[in-house]
Amino acid sequence: MLAAIARVCDSQTFILGPEVEALEREIAALTGAADAVGCASGTEALWLALLAAGVKPGDLVITTAFSFFASASSIVRAGATPIFVDVDPGTLNLDPAQVARRRQSIGGKHVRAILPVHLYGQCADMDAFDSLAKEYEVAIVEDAAQAIGAEWSGKPAGSLGVNAAFSFYPTKNLSAYGDAGIVTTMRPEMAEHMRRLRNHGSPRRYYHDEFGWNGRIDAIQAAVLRVKLPYIADWNEKRRQHSATYDRLLTEAGLTSGPGFTPVRLLARSPQAKHVFHQYVIRAHRRDELRQFLAERKIGSEIYYPLPLHLQPVFADLGLKAGDLPVAEQAAQEVLALPMFPELTESEIRLVVATIADFYTGGVAGV
Ligand SMILES: Cc1ncc(COP(=O)(O)O)c(C=O)c1O
Repeated sequence: MLAAIARVCDSQTFILGPEVEALEREIAALTGAADAVGCASGTEALWLALLAAGVKPGDLVITTAFSFFASASSIVRAGATPIFVDVDPGTLNLDPAQVARRRQSIGGKHVRAILPVHLYGQCADMDAFDSLAKEYEVAIVEDAAQAIGAEWSGKPAGSLGVNAAFSFYPTKNLSAYGDAGIVTTMRPEMAEHMRRLRNHGSPRRYYHDEFGWNGRIDAIQAAVLRVKLPYIADWNEKRRQHSATYDRLLTEAGLTSGPGFTPVRLLARSPQAKHVFHQYVIRAHRRDELRQFLAERKIGSEIYYPLPLHLQPVFADLGLKAGDLPVAEQAAQEVLALPMFPELTESEIRLVVATIADFYTGGVAGV
């Protein structure tokens, strides 16, 4: 890693340049996309992807209510309005049937794009979204921030819509040493547009055809990512193995079933999806108490996400209220992400599961 960073220092090309171009080629190859455009973050990638897909002020973009804030804020930054739709109760990914219903109820005229999120590293139902895109003549922009290396029916995330946004935030499966992101695209002309947009809308220095921003990526981040890239398939495979171990041990401990009461529910896995387990998430009874119990025993966990997007104060003017998107709201009360990283060991997973079992069998308050 240090050698790669030194290479950039020696070159004195700190922003864009050959390291970024090489990363763009390598990510395009990995995802099967026509091209890729490196940028400052996953949030920036979403904004570039939406603009290049033709989203304009006054447009509507349909997205999930259960995601990170940037899935929706990028729509607002593009001048459009997010239309929040509920999620599938099994996978917690955007539900295509609800999207169809919602589009019908709003008339569909100004809907320019649908933005499904591959939540926790599992692709949303891209067959269904592909049909909706054709039927409605709208663009599909993938939020693949959590899903590098994931697949749907053998096709990689990043080549399933028109454009896809990836994040290289330091906790992601493929992570930089700071903020970084990339957009993959199936349309070479959109790549050229995004290269201009990430650099002040400037086709050549000090000439500006449209409004752009400084959304560029540092060469040091690209160099770090290129060192890690050859390992990503192996790291993702290890995450899949850990998830299978969690599934097995939680089930064997009797936590996923019970007469009338189930302490822990596993999320559904779509048979078409090759999951990369950015997060391993369970739905837990008395989730907040369980989280506290784990923390006291020095086991980290996190809640992705405690408040659905439609109930965020900043989106109050959209007029949605508690009860409107019940599946997302229920999930926000129950989800808990357990430790997940490639280097996790089976004995560590056993400890996590044993501690969860302890909690439900009376370790503190009993059931
Ligand atoms: C689903 C989702 N979308 C967008 C983003 C934004 O990425 P970044 O933090 O790199 O801006 C993230 C990551 O934080 C994310 O998880």
